[in-house]
Amino acid sequence: MTEHIQFSSEKDALVLLDQRYLPGREDWFDCKTTEDICFALVVMVVRGAPAIGVTAAYGCYLAAREAQGMDGDWKENLRGLLDKIENARPTAVNLRWAVREMRGIWDAAGDVSLEDLCSTWLARAKEIHAGDIRMCELIGKFGGELMDDGDTVMTHCNAGALATAGYGTALGVIRGAVDQGKKIKVIANETRPFLQGARLTAYELHRDGIEVKVACDNACALLMKKGLVDKVVVGADRIAANGDAVNKIGTYGVALLAREFGIPFYVAAPVYTIDPETPTGDDVPIEDRDPREVTHVGDHQITPDGVEVYNLAFDPTPNELIAGIITEKGVLTAPYDEAIAELFR
Ligand code: MRU
Repeated sequence: MTEHIQFSSEKDALVLLDQRYLPGREDWFDCKTTEDICFALVVMVVRGAPAIGVTAAYGCYLAAREAQGMDGDWKENLRGLLDKIENARPTAVNLRWAVREMRGIWDAAGDVSLEDLCSTWLARAKEIHAGDIRMCELIGKFGGELMDDGDTVMTHCNAGALATAGYGTALGVIRGAVDQGKKIKVIANETRPFLQGARLTAYELHRDGIEVKVACDNACALLMKKGLVDKVVVGADRIAANGDAVNKIGTYGVALLAREFGIPFYVAAPVYTIDPETPTGDDVPIEDRDPREVTHVGDHQITPDGVEVYNLAFDPTPNELIAGIITEKGVLTAPYDEAIAELFR
């Protein structure tokens, strides 16, 4: 797949494939300022926890460039811009991780000039970008080993190349299994309201020649009851210290159904998606998004005027429903609190 996150030295900008318009249109969105970065994050030009982290890392560099042209104390101005990036979306811990990583580099550099900070941050953003692809490939290798030849794997949302720097986490597991010579079919839940499954998962798997069928979110129980699902693999926006995994709204329901039908339910995520500072899934802030995503499909309104809606974007899946957490360091299994504590020791 074309790299959907690109840094252009020529434009001194982060260039993003605009995921709002896929699969219909391949438009590109240039980010040159903090405002562009925050806009791209909030409206989901770019989305998916690791992709958000990579974008935020480049965003810090662009913020430093912006601070060069501002009046007043550059350090204070820059701190304010970093706060804006860090708070653009609340749930995916990768965003906070990336900004804290850059702040840490700044602290460690002491009395650094703004010009030097710009070069150091750009170099680090490029490393985070490349490192994310390597982590996904390892997740694919470990996760691929858990899949059997001929499996049909259900996934929810898009935890693919488009949600990471490339290759994907949940879809990385599927790609890993395919690379290991296994025949895998995928059921992509459509994932209302932004339709990451119908639009993005189907788009990237179809382009890669991996067999994919889109199912309405509410078909999940019937498909499992009919024996059409062998395994479930999803991504995560944040994994708490006890192994509860927060992912796209609807994931919890899929996990409950998987338990009912005895289907293994896996979560695939890089280690930096695990947040040891958050004790349980219920402690993770859940993003409450624009109601218009629910009241409208494109420009077409589907709910009566004046009717309120819920648009909570994520839900926590309790650790006891998870058969394994597939990371670039290997597969974690229960008891997750111990496995995670060991990982961070
Ligand atoms: O709102 P989104 O599209 O950013 O939500 C994305 C998800 O929930 C993904 O499953 C998660 O970020 C993992 S991406 C590898």
